[in-house]
Amino acid sequence: MINKDIGKVLISEKELDATVSRLAEEINRDYVGEDHRLVLLCILKGSIVFMGDLMKKISVPLEIDCMRVSSYGAGTSSSGNVNIIMDIMRSDLHDCDLLIVEDIIDSGRTLAYLTKYLLNKGAKSVKTCTLLDKPSRRVVEFTPDYVGLEIPDEFVVGYGLDYAEKYRALPYVGVLKPEVYSGEDA
Ligand code: IMP
Ligand code: MG
Repeated sequence: MINKDIGKVLISEKELDATVSRLAEEINRDYVGEDHRLVLLCILKGSIVFMGDLMKKISVPLEIDCMRVSSYGAGTSSSGNVNIIMDIMRSDLHDCDLLIVEDIIDSGRTLAYLTKYLLNKGAKSVKTCTLLDKPSRRVVEFTPDYVGLEIPDEFVVGYGLDYAEKYRALPYVGVLKPEVYSGEDA
């Protein structure tokens, strides 16, 4: 059953599953061998569902870690600043091949900032994997290493993505009905 606030389903459960499988295969291929120490870095909270599904499909040895950042206010437009709310806490970063796992890349600010931040902090390598990409919205030039699907400039929810903290648990990615957020003052 589709949630009453969803105008249309953009990406079905089946398509999400196929996309995550494809990304996992690409990652398995690139990180095979003894010379990598793969650490998947989940960017909370939006990437939590994607990360859980992705890690189960990766067959090379891996560790996980989390960071929490925010660039959005409560609504559908970016504030332009990236704030670190919870930092990665490990003393062995210089040994880690970090793969940032992100739900969606929009302006590019979050991933551009995080990549630089983690390299400055001493990580051995930093790559990025995003489930969704809105290339038409880029403000900062940034190309992720792994991209699930490119989507048009529409605000999407579900599969971890929220609007005002709601809709994260939907198993598909959908577009909200305009009346759901038409009252926002962002
Ligand atoms: P960026 O820094 O502008 O690339 O923004 C990335 C972050 O904005 C993502 O991690 C999401 O949390 C949020 N975001 C961007 N577009 C959407 C959307 O369509 N739905 C929900 N969150 C979004
Ligand atoms: Mg996010």
